[in-house]
Amino acid sequence: MRMLLVGCSGFVGRALVPLLLQHGHQLTLVSRSAQPLPALQHPLLTRLRANPADPSSWSQPPLQQALAAAEAVVNLAGEPIAEKRWTPAHLQLLHDSRIHTTRALVQALAALPAGEGPGVLINGSAIGYYGTSASQSFSEASPAGADVLRLCQAWEAEAQAASGRCRLVILRIGIVLGGDGGALGKMLPVFRLGFGGPIGDGQQWMSWISRHDLCQLIAQALEDPAYAGTYNAVAPEPCSMAQFAAALGRCLGRPSLLPVPGPLLQLLLGDGAKVVLEGQRVLPERLQQQGFAFRDGQLNAALAAATS
Ligand SMILES: NC(=O)c1ccc[n+]([C@@H]2O[C@H](COP(=O)([O-])OP(=O)(O)OC[C@H]3O[C@@H](n4cnc5c(N)ncnc54)[C@H](OP(=O)(O)O)[C@@H]3O)[C@@H](O)[C@H]2O)c1
Repeated sequence: MRMLLVGCSGFVGRALVPLLLQHGHQLTLVSRSAQPLPALQHPLLTRLRANPADPSSWSQPPLQQALAAAEAVVNLAGEPIAEKRWTPAHLQLLHDSRIHTTRALVQALAALPAGEGPGVLINGSAIGYYGTSASQSFSEASPAGADVLRLCQAWEAEAQAASGRCRLVILRIGIVLGGDGGALGKMLPVFRLGFGGPIGDGQQWMSWISRHDLCQLIAQALEDPAYAGTYNAVAPEPCSMAQFAAALGRCLGRPSLLPVPGPLLQLLLGDGAKVVLEGQRVLPERLQQQGFAFRDGQLNAALAAATS
């Protein structure tokens, strides 16, 4: 398929793009930077520089033509959630980078002549949709939470506007495990030195998915018309932070007892600490109904693969 990829130059995109190329798809990678994924050179990969959050980008010929010619679109664009303090200005950026990009993309889809353009849109979202809870479990049917990450609700609403136009798949992504980035990438250096441990009281839930499985899921959802609607993109066995820290310590052959105090994180990350100090137990009910085969369904396997 001819595919247009937005927000696929980061931690997930680094693994997704090579996988889609392996499947023989022809890719246009839209990025705000001139040379995204510089190490990747492939005859089926074209780079297109544009700011996808700016509606005027989508009416310019290169991007407009690439969208019209695409059979599928993946949109994962969004300013990183847990990198900086959640000042009002940064919260606005977290919101706008997702909402404006998705809105501009969906409006550009709507502007294409009827019967033209992509047949499927895979759009990102996150398990932050549900809010946090120590005791509840969340399936796709659970209602949205009311905390700061309710921006996921607005993000999904923008994507929903494309549902009359093409097959729409929304992925509520959990904590993505890969060795070279994301939450695990930040924890690994500390754990490798033997100073790792649970963050906060360790009781909070972590609903995770290996980056390998997430990318396989995206590839499958692009290729298989049976995928439609909203899915929790998480492995079937969420764990507590304490279990996660113990498993990571075992995997690396290092002690993992020193708890990382919540207040310290709060100081460093402000409200962003919420992402790791409070969690949610999210289950992949729809993926299991659909028979999605997780390679890394168990935490030990996922950590071994991510750290090897
Ligand atoms: N990693 C996780 O654990 C996790 C968990 C839940 C949900 N997610 C969601 O999944 C998506 C992909 O995750 P990731 O870990 O690959 O993220 P990432 O490494 O931060 O990459 C995000 C992508 O979004 C684009 N982007 C960043 N800031 C932007 C801005 N201000 N305006 C427009 N585009 C911007 C970047 O594209 P360019 O710089 O090339 O333009 C980049 O390709 C994100 O939306 C994230 O919120 C990730």
